Amino acid sequence: MDKKKNWVVIGGGVTSDITSFAASIAKIDVTIVPTTLLAMVDASVGGKCGVNFFPYGKNLIGSFYPAKQIIICKSWLETLSQREFYSGLTECLKHAFLMSSWEGIKKVSDWGVSCRVNDDKLFYKLVLFKQEVVKNDFFEQDKRVILNLGHTLGHAIETFLHQDHLEQISHGQAVAIGMVFSLVASFREGLMTCKVFDSLIRFIFSSRILQERTKIKKIFNKNIEDKSFWSVIFLLMRSDKKQVFENVNDKVSWVLLENIGQCFQEKDYKYKLDFETSYTYWLETLNILDQCG
Ligand SMILES: NC(=O)c1ccc[n+]([C@@H]2O[C@H](COP(=O)([O-])OP(=O)(O)OC[C@H]3O[C@@H](n4cnc5c(N)ncnc54)[C@H](O)[C@@H]3O)[C@@H](O)[C@H]2O)c1
Repeated sequence: MDKKKNWVVIGGGVTSDITSFAASIAKIDVTIVPTTLLAMVDASVGGKCGVNFFPYGKNLIGSFYPAKQIIICKSWLETLSQREFYSGLTECLKHAFLMSSWEGIKKVSDWGVSCRVNDDKLFYKLVLFKQEVVKNDFFEQDKRVILNLGHTLGHAIETFLHQDHLEQISHGQAVAIGMVFSLVASFREGLMTCKVFDSLIRFIFSSRILQERTKIKKIFNKNIEDKSFWSVIFLLMRSDKKQVFENVNDKVSWVLLENIGQCFQEKDYKYKLDFETSYTYWLETLNILDQCG
């Protein structure tokens, strides 16, 4: 590689995050050619390049370093496994929830049935949505936080599996569980109506993004309904770097939705929940995962 020239990275989110981080240190421009659905719609956009530092946690090392150019070519998706397709579809659905169109949410959910992204206009809208959010808050001071919908719990689940050397589930799968939790909390905290909650849960089911859910209870190999399990997860969420900076004592802060395209909005777009409350929402989340089929 010529250090003075542009680096070109071809690959999924892991490859592009690591390469962008290295490029940020070397101060070399980077062009990203994302080859997974997740990398196209999410990881390649927005300049965040986090590197995992397990067993301590997700994205503990990293920087903000936007790509000079992103070249998206959907034909890369033709060879993608079903597992990776659904992982990326979770982030597509997350963006659709954060936009304000029921029609868009329905279409993305239908992509899960056909296992194909067959609406280019909508697909690029999802990509540009992230770009627009990031444009207004590159260093994640407030508005960009909404993109973490489902990630607070999702990252804790991924870290837990790494720490216990358990079989991994995909990033999208962990985020999908986190999204169900966030919807439960949004509804139970009185932020979201029952009608919106039911519809969004139904779209999560019909999109099939929770396809690995039956594996999950097996993988954890312990009673995930147990309070001690939630204590470990809660602690992992509390020690997440973002939560530590926020210093909210015995609570964890969450991105919650009031409606599609409308996040709960205090000054930092986050809603705080204590251990006991979040534990009851976790039990409800597990119930919903059981019903999904
Ligand atoms: N930087 C960000 O803003 C951001 C946002 C979301 C996720 N992420 C990170 O992205 C990572 C997940 O990215 P990912 O889902 O792309 O996973 P990945 O990079 O691990 O790729 C998934 C798998 O797909 C394979 N693959 C890649 N392209 C393929 C293709 N065209 N055909 C067949 N196989 C292919 C890879 O070899 C790999 O085995 C996570 O670590 C997550 O934290 C970063």
